[in-house]
Amino acid sequence: MPTLYDKYGGTPTMKILVREFYKQARVNPKVGHYFNKLDMEKLIDHQVQFLSVVLGKPAKTYTGRELADAHHPLNISDAEFDEIGRLLVNTLKTGGVTIDDIKLIMGVVLEIRDEIVDRTKQSLPQVQTQPAPVANKSPSPAVAKQIPTIGALAKPSPSTHTENSTEKANSIPTAEPAASTPVQAQTNSTSTDFKQQQKATFKPIFGGLPRIKMIVRDLYSQVNEEPELRHYFLNVTPEKIIADQEHFASYVLRKADHSYLGGFFQSSDLSIQVGAVVFNEVIDILRKILLNAGLPEHDTPRLITHIMEIIEETRTQCNDNKIGVLKSVDVSVEALSKVYQKGKLDTIIKSPDLIYVSSPFKGGPYPFPFFTQIDSENQTLTLIAKAAVKESVTPEEMGYLLNEAKQYAPILNFYSDMDDAPLYVASYSLPFEFGVPNRLLIKIAQQFSKTFSDTFTYDAEEILLKVAL
Ligand code: HEM
Repeated sequence: MPTLYDKYGGTPTMKILVREFYKQARVNPKVGHYFNKLDMEKLIDHQVQFLSVVLGKPAKTYTGRELADAHHPLNISDAEFDEIGRLLVNTLKTGGVTIDDIKLIMGVVLEIRDEIVDRTKQSLPQVQTQPAPVANKSPSPAVAKQIPTIGALAKPSPSTHTENSTEKANSIPTAEPAASTPVQAQTNSTSTDFKQQQKATFKPIFGGLPRIKMIVRDLYSQVNEEPELRHYFLNVTPEKIIADQEHFASYVLRKADHSYLGGFFQSSDLSIQVGAVVFNEVIDILRKILLNAGLPEHDTPRLITHIMEIIEETRTQCNDNKIGVLKSVDVSVEALSKVYQKGKLDTIIKSPDLIYVSSPFKGGPYPFPFFTQIDSENQTLTLIAKAAVKESVTPEEMGYLLNEAKQYAPILNFYSDMDDAPLYVASYSLPFEFGVPNRLLIKIAQQFSKTFSDTFTYDAEEILLKVAL
């Protein structure tokens, strides 16, 4: 499969484009001062390598530093980032890159904004105007892996590119589980936890949202080309599939890698499920698209599961108007209680932003009760499960359990609450800026409750009283 790197003539073209880009950047009144005193040859060399990887050259060919390491000390502002983006678009245009390809490239560039602009220092004045010379370090595999790429060209499609500059990077779960650092005892979870949760567990190494958009669009058109498969996407538009992939990615819980190997199952409403042969053929098409796009084979089961889980949600929403999405303005404890009750759960409204949810069936799919907290300001729902712990628990015993649990389910946020009686707690946050898909909420609540109760097997010292709070 050709890549954009091949399409535009490989390294010689990259060099011309990058040189031209820095020529413009150095005389630009807004950002020129960053580049005045640099070893430009080294910088150009790294930038050529970087751009080549973005456009599809193997990631190991990048020998520069991690982007955050090179840029965060510089205190670059959002406005400066945008200016560099504008210069890059100009250079690409002048260099003969097509508008569609520029949009693709800029989709990837926008995705790395946080690597360039250090949000933790946004309130500080810009002090450093003479950056240190580019260090020439040997490549680290971690750096090479983190560059979002476009890679192999997917089948061209006239309406592939709809990104705009405010679009957020999608959260595509990667092969790497979040680093299992020792878990500190915390007392509460906040919206910052949510952002960290997203960052730690969903690194966009596979090209993020622009890449996923291309993939699901390609899947849609390939399935629709096959008369015997076409009904799979009945009443569904590619725009809706793409929007749902973007908005609801967090509603599919990241699981341990081995649990993706058990095959793929339809999870749409029973009334619209298709024959097994049709479903398997759709999966086969998706697998081929992912492999052609350069995804390593061992990562395909996980990505297929996550993409298909949301496509199955989209199919359900488009074909059954009873199963809906709660609009973000309508999210309230009352409305969420109704959603849970439809899922056959009992609810108690504890306060205007807190619901207690439990299952009337012992040993059923929701083995442990949990709370749902609404944070209207940050438009986030947080699922929280709390188990009572023996008064006599030692910090070591609690630390052991928390670490084991974190390794078992890195996506959940485990912590202890020692305020009154000691508690063992897990939380998981979901954005509701684009609404709450009712069916996915019920599913993820079930996985959350089950995963939390699974971690009780790590309670070697029997510190848990296993009583829900
Ligand atoms: C838009 C996305 C950007 C990309 C993809 C990018 C890429 C890179 C790369 C690959 C390097 C070489 C890193 C190394 O080997 O150490 C680099 C260095 C550098 N970039 Fe960027 N950059 C971006 C945005 C910016 C912006 C917005 C600015 C300033 C306004 C900037 C200023 C610099 C400077 C000053 C260096 C040299 C740092 C040093 O030597 O300490 N970059 N950039």
